[in-house]
Amino acid sequence: MARYEITGARPLSGEVTISGAKNAAVAILPAAILVRGKCRVENVPDISDVRILLNILQDIGAVVTREAPGTIVLDCTNITETCPNAELVRKMRASYYLMGALMGRFGKANVALPGGCNFASRPIDQHIKGFRLLGADVEETEDYVNLKTGTEGLRGNRISLDVVSVGATVNIIMAATLIPGQTVIENAAKEPHIVDLANFLNTMGANISGAGTDTVKIRGVESLQGGTYAIIPDQIEAGTYLAAVAATGGNVLVKNVIPKHMDCITSKLQEMGVNIINYDDSIRIRSQGRLSCCTVKTHPYPGFPTDMQAQICVCMALADGVSRLTENVYETRFFGYCTELQEMGAEIMINGKTAMVTGHEKLYGAEVSAHDLRAGAALIIAGLAAEGKTVVCNAHFVERGYENIVQKLKDLGAQIVRMED
Ligand code: EPU
Repeated sequence: MARYEITGARPLSGEVTISGAKNAAVAILPAAILVRGKCRVENVPDISDVRILLNILQDIGAVVTREAPGTIVLDCTNITETCPNAELVRKMRASYYLMGALMGRFGKANVALPGGCNFASRPIDQHIKGFRLLGADVEETEDYVNLKTGTEGLRGNRISLDVVSVGATVNIIMAATLIPGQTVIENAAKEPHIVDLANFLNTMGANISGAGTDTVKIRGVESLQGGTYAIIPDQIEAGTYLAAVAATGGNVLVKNVIPKHMDCITSKLQEMGVNIINYDDSIRIRSQGRLSCCTVKTHPYPGFPTDMQAQICVCMALADGVSRLTENVYETRFFGYCTELQEMGAEIMINGKTAMVTGHEKLYGAEVSAHDLRAGAALIIAGLAAEGKTVVCNAHFVERGYENIVQKLKDLGAQIVRMED
């Protein structure tokens, strides 16, 4: 098992370039199944979730060519297999997008239930509801979801989601792109990666409007053809580096970002006393002295993202005063990292979906374990800010979603090494 060893209490300075968005890439790469022709996808992050997904796609017959760092050409024209390898599928959460993509192209799919970060119960009832309303017969077993075209065929429909779900919105968009009629998703998720998926599919010939609002309309088209598309920068990776600078102090230019996507995060950091300057596609952050306490409530976009909950918690643990952190998307997410932060001297009291975080001037190095991707990122930030040496075990969780994190942090002056037993 790999781990990170960090010697902390050093400010960060310099420049860091943000990679393509993980949660956009893991939707756009399976969406290429819908396309007959070559999709040239740029700004693809080199992270383990993407590598697993590309293996799954290759295994079912896609031709994958790495043209340059970050550029992948995917040709799914000759795929015939609709039951992807279960062992690979179970290695990651977003493999559930194979359901919508395979059903959208072939009218059937048999996909193992996904694995991935298990920081909460993560039901897929809204995905299934969507597939059924589009005319699929869905059979769920303990391990698999088996989708077939129902007796009346697949057809566009009005689907109102009971909860705002990124995954269900993506899956329904993919399932509806090539079927006759119009599909309307109400109460859709509005995350930047939903817009990115719609832009990708529209570039290939789809007819999707309203992505980024809570009503997405998909008019089915007969076919999609190949093209070139560049994935947006990763909002959460950028937010993680911003939180790291806020916690350690320093002065960093975060490059390759869409500042608008960052507003929900930068506005909170500003409230905590950090200086932020937005440029066209970069953000400068300067953090000096003690942070101020604040109140954060996670919500679907454009609210403060649940995927930044753990990282902002580290900032709160170092801030002056008592901060209040409420989780509204995944209530059990605190348990992935709060005990570990407490080992490092953080004072956190959890009561239901709210954590009260009493800030202290310092955190102290300790041996801690990442239990999921964002928890791991938060523990790295804590290690960078803490006095002494921190060991963060379970590096593989972090590598699911952060490209080259060790080198990027080293370039900012951090003392961090990756060790393998
Ligand atoms: N939900 C349901 N039924 C469903 C689907 C979701 O009740 O059928 C509930 C969930 O339990 C949760 C809420 O709806 O309370 C939102 O879940 P959502 O479906 O939006 O989450 P997801 O699609 O499984 C994506 C990201 C997560 C991120 C969440 C929330 C991907 C691949 N994953 O998950 O990212 O936390 O949206 O923004 O896009 C991460 O990157 O670390 C990560 C976990």
